[in-house]
Order: sequence, then C-alpha cells, then structure tokens
Amino acid sequence: MHMFKTALILTSTLGLVLGACNAPTSKTDTPVQMIEAKNVKIIKHDKFTYANYDQVRVTHLDLDLDVNFDKKILDGMATLDFKRVGVATNELVLDSRDLLIKAVSTADDHNEWTPAKYTLGESDVVLGSSLTIQIGNTANKVRISYSTSPDAEGLQWLSPAQTAGKKHPYLFSQAQALNARTMAPLQDTPAVRMTYTASLRVPDGLRPLMSAEQGDKDENGIYHFNMPQPIPSYLLAIAVGDIKFKAINDHIGVYAEQYILDAAAEEFSETPLMEASNAKLYGPYRWGRYDLIVLPPSFPFGGMENPRLSFMTPTLIAGDKSLTNVVAHELAHSWSGNLVTNSNWRDAWLNEGFTSYVENRVMEDLYGEGRAVMEQALSLEDLKRDIKGATRPELTQLKLPADLAHPDEAFSQVAYVKGQFFLMFLEERFGRENFDAFLKGYFDHFAFQSITTEDFIKYLHDELHVKQPDALTKAELKEWIYEAGLPDTAKNPKSDAFENVAAQQAAWLAGTITAAEIKTTKWSTHEWLYFLNSLPEGLAQKQFNELDTAYSLTGTQNAETAFAWYMQAIKGDYHAVDKDLEHFFMTVGRGKFIYRLYGELAKTPTGKTRAVEIFARARAGYHPIAQRRIGDILSQE
Ligand code: BES
Ligand code: ZN
Repeated sequence: MHMFKTALILTSTLGLVLGACNAPTSKTDTPVQMIEAKNVKIIKHDKFTYANYDQVRVTHLDLDLDVNFDKKILDGMATLDFKRVGVATNELVLDSRDLLIKAVSTADDHNEWTPAKYTLGESDVVLGSSLTIQIGNTANKVRISYSTSPDAEGLQWLSPAQTAGKKHPYLFSQAQALNARTMAPLQDTPAVRMTYTASLRVPDGLRPLMSAEQGDKDENGIYHFNMPQPIPSYLLAIAVGDIKFKAINDHIGVYAEQYILDAAAEEFSETPLMEASNAKLYGPYRWGRYDLIVLPPSFPFGGMENPRLSFMTPTLIAGDKSLTNVVAHELAHSWSGNLVTNSNWRDAWLNEGFTSYVENRVMEDLYGEGRAVMEQALSLEDLKRDIKGATRPELTQLKLPADLAHPDEAFSQVAYVKGQFFLMFLEERFGRENFDAFLKGYFDHFAFQSITTEDFIKYLHDELHVKQPDALTKAELKEWIYEAGLPDTAKNPKSDAFENVAAQQAAWLAGTITAAEIKTTKWSTHEWLYFLNSLPEGLAQKQFNELDTAYSLTGTQNAETAFAWYMQAIKGDYHAVDKDLEHFFMTVGRGKFIYRLYGELAKTPTGKTRAVEIFARARAGYHPIAQRRIGDILSQE
C-alpha cells in the first residue's frame, strides 16, 4: 500500500507540460496502462459506471441469446471472462439497467460452474442498477442468465408495419453512451475493452448482424459472431431484420431492406475511396471488413460507428452523394474512437473532435478544399449556436467538467466542432506534414487503448511540441482544452462559394433581383444550407412564399435542406409547410432534426400545443432514446 499513498495517478499531465506541476507523472499514468504496467491501484474515474474496473476487468463477453420478437426481449446467457487487477477483491460489480437477472454462477480455470451470490442495487434513472457478484478468490468467469426488458432504451423493436417491407419485424440496438447495460450485464464504461463472441437464434426469414465478423448459420439455425479486437461496451451492436446485402467492393458493402438497397449502394459507392484516403493519412484500416447498414428511419442518429458495421440513417440517401460526409465520419471512427477511445465521456472530444477533423481531411482529399471549407463553415455556425445556448460555460470546454449530469451533455457541437477546430489550429501551427505524421503515430501508439485528454496532451508534448517549442504557447493549449468558448486563434473558414451565395441573398433581400433570378442552378446542398441558415429574422410571408414558389422547398427530399427550411418556417410563422413538416415528424426519427424542430415549435404557446399533439401521434414510432429526449424538450420549454 505504501507505494500509492498519493493520488498522483489523477494528476493532470498538463501540469507537466505547462511547467506548473509538482507531482511526478509517468508515461504510464492512465488507469489501463497503470494496471498493466505496474499492477498497482488505480483510481476509478468514470462516474457513469458502477463497475469496480479498478479491481476486476472484464476481458471477454460471450452472448448466447434468443431474439424473441413476440416478447420483445433478448433472452439467454452472458458469460464474462475477467481478470483481477489492482487491490484484491471478492466482488465483481457490473452495470445493468432494466435487466431481469435469473441466475448467476461462477467458474475458475477448471470450468466447474457453481451458483454465486449476487445482489441487484437500487435503480438510478441514469445509471440503472449495479449487479454485485461474489467471485471469491479464484473465479475468473461469471455466467448470468437474464433477459432484457421490452422497454430497454438500447433496443428498438419494430413491428412489421413499421418496416418498409411490412412482412417482418426488425430490431436494432444503440449502445452509446449508457445503453449497452440494457442489452447485457457488463462493465459499461469506455475505459474497459473486451473481445466478444455471440450465438443468436432468430425467427426464420430474418438475418442477424453484429458489430463483429458476420457469422453464418450453423446446422441448428444458430448464427455465430466473433469480434476478435477488444472494444469498449458502447460499440456492442445488433440488428435483426429482413436485411439484404450488396457489395461495393471485396471488403466493403451495404446492408439494407430491399427497397433502399440499390440506392444505398449507389449513394455510398465512394466509401472505398474514403477508406483509401483515411488509410493513406493515418495508417491501415485494422478491422477486417467495413460494411454499412441503412436502418429504418427511426434510427435516432446520422450514423453510429459500430465496428465493422456502421449504422446509418436512411436520411443520408439524397440521391446525389451530398450527405456522405457522415460516411466519412463513421468510417473515420475506425481510427479515432474505435481504435483510440476516450476512456471517459468527459473526454468525448477525443472521439468526436478527432473524427470530425479526420472526416473533413478525407472530404478535402476526395472532393477538394472548397467542399471541406464549406463543411467547416456550416459546422462552425452550429458550434457558435451551441456555445451561445450552453446551460453553463463549463460545458463549452473540450475537457468537460467532472459533474456532467448525463453523457448526452458531452455530445454537443463543442466535442465535435471545437475539437475539430482545435486540431485544425494545431495543424496550422505545426505544419500539415508534421501534424499528419504525428497523428498517424498517435493512432498507432494508442491503438486498442482507452485514453484521457491528459494522455493526449502528454503525447503531443513529447512527440511534437518539444521538437517545435515555438509553434504554440502553453497558455494557448490550456485555453483550447480547459477554458470555455471558442479561442480567437480558431480558423475563420472563408468559402468563396458561400460569399457568392451571400451576395445573391443580399441582392434578393434588397429587392434588386427576384427569388427566381438567384442563380441557384449550380448550387450544391451546402450552398442551399448556407442560404437557408443565413436568412435574416423577420422575413415577410411574401418572401417565404416567393422562395417556396421558385424552388419548391416545402416537401424537398433532401432531409438536411428540408430541416433547414422548416426551422426558418417555424421561426417565421410560415404555415404553408405545416402538412409536410408534420409528415417529416411522422417519418423521420433522426434526433439532429427532430429535437431542434420540436424545440423551435415549443417556443410559442400555440406551437407548443402543436408539438405536444404531433409528438403524441409520432411517439410510438420513435426510438426510445428520441422518446426520452423529446419528452424532456417538451416538458422544459
Ligand atoms: N458516435 C456518434 C453518435 C452518438 C453520439 C451516439 C453520442 C450516441 C451518443 C456518431 O459518430 C456521430 O457523431 N454521428 C453524427 C454524424 C456526424 C457526421 C456528426 C450524427 O449522428 O449526426
Ligand atoms: Zn461521431
């Protein structure tokens, strides 16, 4: 015990970098490295888990489950291998939420299974319940018979009527950030990585897929999956439905319901180029195959980086590849996020900021600087809005405060765009060539590890800053990472295309030209988004109508454009959109769109009444995550 009397493990390495530190630090001071290198006590620091991962670490998960569409449950067994680390204990604490635990047994190397004592803690709305299992001194495996709840937040069960094909039901999961524990009992923290295997029984005619090597059906009709690379629990994923496959090349393809399969393969046909670009910049893709699955429209995100199988919203299928930066984004997570993972949601920018940066580099590489800069400029506006709207300034820091109420708070545009612009700032200061080499080294150095912001700072210091000490001051670094708001040193992306749009918009607003005379024929979706987002407040009904007549904006099939137009329409009381807006609410479950549309509606009393009324009808079709979020939005405003 004498070895670790002080809390030196938690000491920020920034102190070292900034020269203000008084406690010793070493290269091995993240929890994972600490344990593995020295086998000493670590201090658990993820407040969103009950797991005692500073004492016991799950290394492998095996699932053996029936996918029961009648009861809307996963039912079977989870077997977890674990190893003891740090201070000895005879308890294994796991996370669970809304799970029905039926029996628990443990075994040691001799594989003799014996029933184990366990207790299920009180349920917390955010964390769920701890599952504490007595493991004695020698057990290294635990087996839990359990089933999930039909209300599990991480699982959406769709009836046949809710699918495009109408014949078969559909199930898909969403584990990030805290919902893996609604799928299985496990250590639900990104600080812990495990490999996994799974055996799934599904009804005839349905195909199960996981974030793993897609297994075949055995002679008993059971599908087997294997994920040989260690992943954090939030990347555990499953989809089951009448799902078809179309190859894009020999190791990239698309899964989707038949109705959208060909369109999806066409929309995403440049994924191989994105992979090549990504690999050229940051080293080889390390996960075997890369496939995409287009989920039903209730999928609450644009995309989710489930390893080997990104989950995508069908709202990306615009017909013109204009929204494929989301593919670049989810693919980029194969390096930033899945390979090198934030060990705490306070460090979410390590996942999302790096990924937004890499995404944008790939877009630049494939489609040119013009498109990359347009995407930067649009993102920057989103960031400014989130910074203005932050409920407290600490939530606009890259390193988020210790008292986050929910990991949802970690995923504002701050993690994404401030993170991206920070890396753009570093690139500019150190030079692209040096910075590219540094990042490639970073992904390699921390591959398959979970790290904190402070690990990044130390690596930046050791590998780059010491070689170019004048490139950056400590105060600048500190401001970017630990202070609120957007530093003045942030790039101001200047898009010629957008300046042209702005000039034409100004001419129209001044009455010099009519809406129909705006030269829009060569506009990309990005230019339209810029035009719509920058419309001034207080537009006259006549002006809304003129735009709508000239460009048929209401009912447009591009979900991003539709969203931008409906936001303006709600703000400007332009009710000609109402029918199509309602259709949008009834058919699109992507949170990025509907949370803000509901929020905007709810700003006026009549709008709020309408929002509540639409939500009552749309609710059952939304994902449980979206149901909760919209419920919160409509009860606050
Ligand atoms: N990992 C995120 C989605 C996510 C974040 C799920 C937090 C659960 C909790 C994913 O990679 C993502 O960022 N998706 C974005 C797309 C992107 C281009 C910004 C989205 O869904 O909009
Ligand atoms: Zn992301």
